[in-house]
Amino acid sequence: MCGIVGFTGARSAAPILLDGLKKLEYRGYDSAGIAVMDGPAISVVKVKGRIASLCERTDGGQNVSGVTGIGHTRWATHGAPTEENAHPHLSNDGRFAVVHNGIIENYVSLREELMSEGYRFESETDTEVIVHLIEKYYRGSVREALVRTANRLQGSYALGVICTEETGRIYAVREASPLILGIGAGENYFASDVTALVPYTRNVIYLEDGEFAELSAESVRIFDCTGQEVRRKVSRVMWDVQAAEKGGYEHFMLKEIMEQPAAVKATIAPRIRNGRIEIEEIGGILSGLGDIRSIVITACGSAYYAGCAGRYALERLSGIPVRTELASELRYSDPLIDGHTLVIVISQSGETADTIAALKECRDRGARTLAVVNVVGSTVARLADSTVYTWAGPEIAVATTKGYTTQVAVLYLLAVCFADRLGRLPEGESGPVESLQALPRRIQQAIDMNPGIPALAGKYHESRALFFIGRNTDYAAALEGALKMKEISYLHAEAYAAGELKHGTIALIEEHQPVIALCCNRALMEKTLSNIVEVKSRGAEVLALTFRNNQKILSAADDLLFIPEVDPLFSAAVEIVPLQLLAYHVARENGCDIDKPKNLAKSVTVE
Ligand code: G6P
Repeated sequence: MCGIVGFTGARSAAPILLDGLKKLEYRGYDSAGIAVMDGPAISVVKVKGRIASLCERTDGGQNVSGVTGIGHTRWATHGAPTEENAHPHLSNDGRFAVVHNGIIENYVSLREELMSEGYRFESETDTEVIVHLIEKYYRGSVREALVRTANRLQGSYALGVICTEETGRIYAVREASPLILGIGAGENYFASDVTALVPYTRNVIYLEDGEFAELSAESVRIFDCTGQEVRRKVSRVMWDVQAAEKGGYEHFMLKEIMEQPAAVKATIAPRIRNGRIEIEEIGGILSGLGDIRSIVITACGSAYYAGCAGRYALERLSGIPVRTELASELRYSDPLIDGHTLVIVISQSGETADTIAALKECRDRGARTLAVVNVVGSTVARLADSTVYTWAGPEIAVATTKGYTTQVAVLYLLAVCFADRLGRLPEGESGPVESLQALPRRIQQAIDMNPGIPALAGKYHESRALFFIGRNTDYAAALEGALKMKEISYLHAEAYAAGELKHGTIALIEEHQPVIALCCNRALMEKTLSNIVEVKSRGAEVLALTFRNNQKILSAADDLLFIPEVDPLFSAAVEIVPLQLLAYHVARENGCDIDKPKNLAKSVTVE
């Protein structure tokens, strides 16, 4: 939603803050700002627009002096993306500057209270109440003022604070928004995501909810919400800086698409031992598996579509009924969930507000909860009974690719593992495990088999709308394929279960209307073929995704995308790859800002 950074040390702070903000720009990119303390004076520079404009305005940070500072990149929620609404916000007495990621739910009443006490507001943001509260409660100790301020706030927040009375210090506060401390030599940092820290240090501390930290060049102290000092362990980040760089690719999205074979391998391979799926993290869930009567998968966006794709394998192989629910719907649906329900929560970031709320709702009803998460130590990972990490590495492009495929891969692993533990895999049956082992290779083949995608993008990029159709797992992959197209190319794209087409949507088919037909399940091939014939006879141009030797589809379609033949239960993770590439190249043709599409943010930490 937004990204925050903080630095204190002996070096010039501004270039380090700007560098950190560039790494966090995927979290929001409509305005940005920094506040740097030079002795007892705070300089604030804010811009509407990207970090690049902030760099220009400050000459890469060179014209802002000081060794202590905080920074922010914004995805506007309260108040338009303007310079006034950009963070950092200052207190009326000019002694405090604050950056904030999250939402203050009770800001309206706090604002009224503060205004009636004479505090002057300069912005329309919810954040500004925080800095005035700090000023109000300050009696010589920032720490005490923060405890009192935090007690007044409802909602989610990761805060960075500096105060002219305490030069060389930065404060960080966390409540339901990510915040990580970076421990350096003679300098310390905080950031919303480790990607901003790894160029400087691999030693990090994941703050817990309700905690705050006081950082100086030489020390890091952490306190709980009552002000009691607490000890936290230092973790080591294992991946290196290059993982968060473009590595020669034009866009992060393309790099991340290409990384999928390796990411899926990293997710699957360590969990296959002696021909069986072993997922140590879910020992507790496995021991109670016999009591599970239903599985509910819940998530948002692509993570939800990953659930739709994995549902088939999970239900078929485990024999347990599985349903998928959007987290934003589930949380308000008074769901029939109890101690016999296993709820699988999927989230790349582990910070999506609706997903967290759905998880809490299910937990309160006694469900067992299993999280599928990429970001280590994130809120979803900490709230669930068990967490299976997708080892996708940092995903920077806003539109997820390797995040999605690794989520689907984990669901496949769970499906085979549950089937095995429930005695549903016939003795000596190695097919499913072998299919999973082969998945990274199949994904690589799906990349290699489609050199014609840029040319197809040239043909389809001016379409007014694109329809994606498929059945079962093909349909699940179509949902994610259409979302990718919408997100980055801004073309209208919709996915339909192929059999539903004639119940309305077919009215929209006219001469040259592109229809992308997914036909990767031999058992359903004839059915989808008849839908292809229906749309073609009404003038549609059909781009079919299928196997190389699938003669009937090859001759019915106008254009083709290929995947190698894969067990249909596990095919969505392969089918999606040519569709990601198609969306990428269509967006490129249209000159779109592929890694940072308009109006989107990678991590949606508000409802
Ligand atoms: C945002 C992102 C999507 C993502 C969704 C859920 O909308 O742009 O790519 O699928 O949030 O995010 P999560 O981090 O929970 O997987």
